[in-house]
Amino acid sequence: MRTIVHSGIATIGLALTVAAQGPPPPPPPLPPVPVPPGNPITLEKSLLGKALFWDEQLSATSTVACGTCHINSVGGSDPRTVNDPSSVAPGPDGVLGTPDDVLGSLGVVRNLADGRLEKDELFELRPQVTGRKSPSMINAAFANELFWDGRAPDRFDDPITGSPILPFNAALESQAVGPPVSSVEMGHQGIAWPEIEGRLGPLEPLRLAESIPADLEAWIGDRDYNDLFAEAFGSGEVTAVRIALAIATYERTLISGQSAFDAGTLNPQQNRGRAIFFGQGRCALCHGGPLFTDQNFHNVGVTPALEDPGRFEVTGNPGDRGRFKTPSLRNVGLRAPYFHNGSAQSLNQVVAFYNRAGDFSFNQDPLIQPLGLAPLQRADLVAFLQALTDLRVVGEEAPFDRPLLYSESSRVPLVFGQSTPGTGGFQPQFVALEPAYINNPSLTVGVDGGLGGAPASLLFDLSAHPTGFPAFGAVLHLSFSPASRVLFQGNLEGSGPGNGWNSVSLEIPNAVGLVGTSVFMQWIVFDQGAPGVLSATPGLELPVF
Ligand code: HEC
Ligand code: HEC
Repeated sequence: MRTIVHSGIATIGLALTVAAQGPPPPPPPLPPVPVPPGNPITLEKSLLGKALFWDEQLSATSTVACGTCHINSVGGSDPRTVNDPSSVAPGPDGVLGTPDDVLGSLGVVRNLADGRLEKDELFELRPQVTGRKSPSMINAAFANELFWDGRAPDRFDDPITGSPILPFNAALESQAVGPPVSSVEMGHQGIAWPEIEGRLGPLEPLRLAESIPADLEAWIGDRDYNDLFAEAFGSGEVTAVRIALAIATYERTLISGQSAFDAGTLNPQQNRGRAIFFGQGRCALCHGGPLFTDQNFHNVGVTPALEDPGRFEVTGNPGDRGRFKTPSLRNVGLRAPYFHNGSAQSLNQVVAFYNRAGDFSFNQDPLIQPLGLAPLQRADLVAFLQALTDLRVVGEEAPFDRPLLYSESSRVPLVFGQSTPGTGGFQPQFVALEPAYINNPSLTVGVDGGLGGAPASLLFDLSAHPTGFPAFGAVLHLSFSPASRVLFQGNLEGSGPGNGWNSVSLEIPNAVGLVGTSVFMQWIVFDQGAPGVLSATPGLELPVF
């Protein structure tokens, strides 16, 4: 080498080689965060927005926060899409278990304004599932239009009056007013914004959360939502518009631009992957720029013609059929499964998909071409995509720190012991996800899988037999102490063995003495076909907090 360097001609040759193959120029920095005039970023608004985003009290059932479906450590997507086998929605055929199924996010069990549950044709008494995979709120501040099909526009209008609030840069605001009034995601059947506005003010912020970040907890102090709105907006009024302004402001603080790629510390394999990304792989044609997205809509061939119409639903333009928003690839390594329907389980599968020019040519973007990448090149490309992860997101470090949700805590209801089968051997089961916190105006406890039409009761006690004892032919888990009570008496809805269901909405008294204890419940069904004329659910333990 040294001798070559001493030769003038060879030195020029070497310099040219370095220019072509050596360290690439540093990546462009992230652009400044677009902020709509009319909703400037303030610390108070972002703290309020953070409380709202992570507060399950924003849902009708107290079981779903924005954050339930958007968890930082998995890149702002929903870990349950991978971990919970019930996170599946039927595709356009309306039938579960067929190839057009979508891996989505679990919302609420279908429920009514009075808190009672309603059996959904499809999801029955299980949480309903969104029809698309949950994308990230991290770096969403840079998008002009949000959702996979871009239906949340740049401008923000009051969701109640329709009057214009923010003329541009406001896709986050227009997105945020959707989920709380969706009866799949957070609401009840027929919910509307005035109800949420009227309910939130006196509530204790993050009442259901644990491990609240210290700065947020200190800022909230002993105050209620009215107080927090007063500090953020100058008066205590809680409105849909203000909720959106605050949540959007919080989301404008969730900016992720610190990866190995940004630091210029790619290893040799990642650097080879980078060259493929910008070269032979053609990825940067759509995933270019500092956010790795052109913020545009393309049909890359994930689904056939008759599935999700995507952008077409918004524009009505036939050319938009099957087009979806190009996702940013920052933190993509954390966000499996991939695509709008969650159909690719891993980055390896995504890269294999592009290598074979996608799966469906219907209305497909001509930029998608067979790539001819060898297995090692595909591995290099995946290594590069993994180098786009910001470790603060993985570790949930500020600004990606957050409270622990009720659904992630040990306060969730616990089913224990065994059920007693009824007619046809069907075993009645609890439907119980809601939190037993004192003063909760509506804790709904349901049953499913009993004999339709049969008389049933929900029993309550302050103590229980873990294994239960046989009584009247059913395994009963309650102690039948003087405190035992019947909370519901009536007939099961539905008809036929295994189809009987019902629910009851209970008000938890403001009984401070119950905090830290558990209460116990069990449904019994008077079922002539059960061996002992009674069938029953297992026991249910509800930790009171
Ligand atoms: C039940 C799960 C669920 C809940 C609750 C939920 N989301 Fe989402 N979110 C989704 C899904 C699924 C999508 C994609 C829907 C689509 O594109 O049709 C989405 C899309 C988004 C997007 C758009 C991201 C992009 O790149 O286009 C943002 C931002 C967002 N949600 C923020 C929120 C906020 C704020 C809340 C609370 C007010 C919330 N979400 C509540 C599941 C949920
Ligand atoms: C023609 C534009 C285009 C090209 C070229 C392209 N992509 Fe995409 N990419 C998209 C769109 C649009 C989606 C969303 C498609 C969908 O869900 O139906 C997407 C989705 C993805 C996803 C899933 C992200 C998520 O959050 O689900 C990954 C990963 C990805 N692309 C990586 C790549 C790589 C690697 C290349 C190059 C081999 C590439 N893309 C080439 C437009 C493109």
